[in-house]
Amino acid sequence: MNEPVSPPVSANVVWHQATVTRARREVQNGHRGAIVWFTGLSGSGKSTLAHAVEEALHQRGCRTFVLDGDNVRHGLCGDLGFSSEGRIENIRRVGEVGKLFMEAGIIVLTAFISPYREDRNRVRGVVAHGDFIEIYCDTPIDVCEKRDVKGLYKKARAGQIAEFTGISSPYEIPVSPELALNTGVAELDTCVRQVLDEMLLRGVIARQ
Ligand code: ADX
Repeated sequence: MNEPVSPPVSANVVWHQATVTRARREVQNGHRGAIVWFTGLSGSGKSTLAHAVEEALHQRGCRTFVLDGDNVRHGLCGDLGFSSEGRIENIRRVGEVGKLFMEAGIIVLTAFISPYREDRNRVRGVVAHGDFIEIYCDTPIDVCEKRDVKGLYKKARAGQIAEFTGISSPYEIPVSPELALNTGVAELDTCVRQVLDEMLLRGVIARQ
């Protein structure tokens, strides 16, 4: 594991080098560790797609884990709200946790709205080039709102939820994601295939 270059770092702490390295874990696993970062509006299909990709990877024998916004906000980030500060800290923590998973040789799939470009780019910046694969779930808001699986858009429109992404809080579209998927119309299987192809292209997994 490379010594981290970015702050914050506590005072009087010294990095301890592991002998079981990421490289050794990756050899054992037969694939690289990576962070596959799904971003998009609430209801855009991030979690569904992340779990479907995980299922496909698991069936290939890969070691994987999904970090999902709604779940992580039940524990690790349960103290954070949806103000810009809360979201920035949410994504910072998830980025750091994702990095640890990746160093453990795991393919970590994250499903967070992650509405701010700067926050996504910061996570990209704390890992090595090629370790961060950004996938934009490009479902238009009217489709997300029509789905409204959790009934949150209805509440947000009724003024019962403040700072709701896409309604009263911004979503900054990725400028150059590794992949943009039309999750509003494309079949789930097609999207899974495209993500796997991207991972093959980037050398995270090998052709079977
Ligand atoms: S993020 O903006 O900080 O990345 P995150 O992905 O963790 O958000 O959580 C988003 C989920 O929280 C949504 O899918 C939705 O279920 C729920 N949620 C509750 N309040 C809000 C809100 N104000 N804006 C967006 N999502 C919200």
